[in-house]
Amino acid sequence: MSRVTLTQFLIEQQRNQKMIPADLRLLIEVVARAVKTISVHVGKGAVAGLLGNAGTDNVQGEAQKKLDVVANEVLLHANEWGGHLAAMASEELDDPSYIPKTYPKGEYLLVFDPLDGSSNIDVNISVGTIFSVLRCPANMEPTEEAFLQTGRRQVAAGYAVYGPSTMLVLTVGTGTHGFTLDREFGSWVLTHGDIRIPEDTKEFAINASRSRFWEPPVQRYIAELQQGADGPRGQDFNMRWVASMVADVHRILARGGIFLYPLDEKNRPRGGHLRLLYEANPMAMVVEQAGGAASTGREPVLDLVPQGLHQRVPVILGSRHEVERVVAYHAE
Ligand code: AHG
Ligand code: MN
Ligand code: MN
Ligand code: MN
Repeated sequence: MSRVTLTQFLIEQQRNQKMIPADLRLLIEVVARAVKTISVHVGKGAVAGLLGNAGTDNVQGEAQKKLDVVANEVLLHANEWGGHLAAMASEELDDPSYIPKTYPKGEYLLVFDPLDGSSNIDVNISVGTIFSVLRCPANMEPTEEAFLQTGRRQVAAGYAVYGPSTMLVLTVGTGTHGFTLDREFGSWVLTHGDIRIPEDTKEFAINASRSRFWEPPVQRYIAELQQGADGPRGQDFNMRWVASMVADVHRILARGGIFLYPLDEKNRPRGGHLRLLYEANPMAMVVEQAGGAASTGREPVLDLVPQGLHQRVPVILGSRHEVERVVAYHAE
């Protein structure tokens, strides 16, 4: 069996599509290596004493899990010495992390959610890592301002999901491709080339415990789905909610669906729940590159001009026709 590894895939992209300069390829390989390390830590769980809280809070006031902290440090240390980055930003850091003076500085900016779905760590349910790559604007210091670029400017984005198998799903703007970690060989094998999200779906994902806070367009949309074959949609819909964005988005890439973390009365003061730079934007690029759509309900996620590193936004993404319907309800 001839197996295409991540390295071969990236070199071919560099050669044929001219999409990946050598230092971007290095960056992606380093992220993939870091993710492999995180996968080992996640897999050891209680044996390594890695479950539970770290006893600290992050900038958003969330209690950090031990694995949030470990995954963050793995990504920071893996990426600081390669010479490909100008700076990094993370859910778990208040401010950008600069490359130590002892190492050369590159032109890229790396943003990540080191451990997504951390409420699922202690219950042994899939978690993940999300990342986004931007170019540092020319003649600009890599301060917070440099990171505040629209999602359309991402040069690469992706996520890892630590599930029954560990997968890396990646886009460099030439479709969305999935690699599965072969644990014995330690290599990433291309198993899901050019993933396409079905345009229609009978599956939705939303935290329905918040329904009383939703805005009218979301109330209407979900009510119609719940009426099933007896309602205006004339068919039954099924619901899933993992509460790890990576796992919910991964399911949608695999078999279609719509994911909503909308604006509601409770999260309105913060602008939404999910974070634009390291959750919404990378996932929106992955989904759009797979033929799906990603919106706030009012505009495409990728068109938002970020106002801050940890800005939150509403997110509605997945099967194109369903996302378009929710957007239409918002416009009415
Ligand atoms: P994180 O663990 O990185 O802070 O992200 C958690 C996010 C996301 O993964 C998930 O979709 C959502 O929060 C879950 O929210 P609920 O607790 O409202 O279900
Ligand atoms: Mn968190
Ligand atoms: Mn997250
Ligand atoms: Mn996180």
